[in-house]
Amino acid sequence: MEQYIIKGGNPLVGEVEIGGAKNAALAILAAAIMTDETVMIDNLPDVNDINVLLEAIEGIGARVQRIDRHTVKINGSHITDFDIEYDYIKKIRASYYLLGALLGKYKRAEVALPGGCNIGSRPIDQHLKGFRALGAYVDIEHGKIIAEADHLRGKHIYFDVVSVGATINVMMAASMADGLTIMENVAKEPHVVDVANFLNSMGANIRGAGTDVIKIRGVSKLHSTTYSIIPDQIEAGTFMFAAAATRGDVTVLNVIPKHLEATIAKLVEIGCEVEEFDDAVRVVSKGALRNTQVKTLPYPGFPTDMQPQIGVTLALCKGTSTITESIFENRFKYLDELARMGANVKIEGNSATIEGVNGFSGARVSAPDLRAGAALVIAGLAADGITIVDDIVYIQRGYERFEEKLRSLGAQIEKVSTEREIQKFKLKVC
Ligand code: UD1
Repeated sequence: MEQYIIKGGNPLVGEVEIGGAKNAALAILAAAIMTDETVMIDNLPDVNDINVLLEAIEGIGARVQRIDRHTVKINGSHITDFDIEYDYIKKIRASYYLLGALLGKYKRAEVALPGGCNIGSRPIDQHLKGFRALGAYVDIEHGKIIAEADHLRGKHIYFDVVSVGATINVMMAASMADGLTIMENVAKEPHVVDVANFLNSMGANIRGAGTDVIKIRGVSKLHSTTYSIIPDQIEAGTFMFAAAATRGDVTVLNVIPKHLEATIAKLVEIGCEVEEFDDAVRVVSKGALRNTQVKTLPYPGFPTDMQPQIGVTLALCKGTSTITESIFENRFKYLDELARMGANVKIEGNSATIEGVNGFSGARVSAPDLRAGAALVIAGLAADGITIVDDIVYIQRGYERFEEKLRSLGAQIEKVSTEREIQKFKLKVC
């Protein structure tokens, strides 16, 4: 089992290139099978979740050709199988985007029902409500969602909760329905807009993505395109909080600063200096850091996927901070691990109270999920002494060459899998 071993205490300094947005890429890869023509997608992050989804896409008969590490060509003209197995859904929930894609194109899809996950129960009722509204017959049998329709027909759909997944999944199906679909109370995340832009570049007619209402005029056919995925705002934010927590000076390159506004606002509130450029943001953390209050919300609010990273940083800020997690019910597990490194935290329901401490001491901790794992790496980088992070398979799902990028900023971090490698690292750094 691979682990990260970290010798903390070095401020991160330098520039780091941010990759393509994982969550946009997952939906765009699924949508790419909606045409029989070849689609080329660039700026893909080379992370485990993407590679598993590409396998799922190949598994149903689509052709996947890797051009290079970040570019792929997909041809969906040979799909013969509309059934996505539980093995894929178990590894990567977002395989459920193939439900909307297959239903839109073939009017039939079978996808294993995703269960809960480490961050919460994660129902998909709003996805199913949207498909049913478009006229699909949707049933759950033997752990599978079976959706089929003779025709999909455009409809006025009002979502009960703001859901990124439901917005994207229903948007894909509605792109190939007959007539006009109006989706209200939709998610406005940058990756929702990116998926809409991608579908439009294939000939779909989607308007309003990025606002509360999306209008889709269905088309009968989509065509070939070449598309580059937007930068990953969560990867960028992770490096920005790593700069803050280690008292560093980091510039994230290849970002869209507008997508980082909520993160930038919090960094400024706690006392960091933040400089925005056209496609880069610099974070300097040299003065005293102070407490603040955070509530996670759908975009443009503070992202739940950045909650652990700010949590670790706030644990080093002077004063009492509070975090309210309003999206997922189980996203504070990392705070128990952080307490083992000396953080002073109290969790009550969906709120955490964090009393700032002067420093962390390195310890052996486990990554509870993807973003929480990255946050514990930040904690290790800021801590005194050696930290070992277990279960980094979660981190590898969403961060490309994480340790290499951190090393390029001066971090002392290695991926290890044996006791011998751990001892070698300790000898090198101590
Ligand atoms: C996506 C992101 C995830 C991020 C989350 C919130 C991907 C692959 N994942 O997840 O990283 O943390 O957005 O920004 O893009 N809900 C329902 N019924 C539904 C769907 C959702 O009640 O049918 C609830 C969820 O339980 C949650 C809230 O709505 O409380 C938001 O979830 P949603 O936006 O759907 O998250 P995901 O798309 O799963």
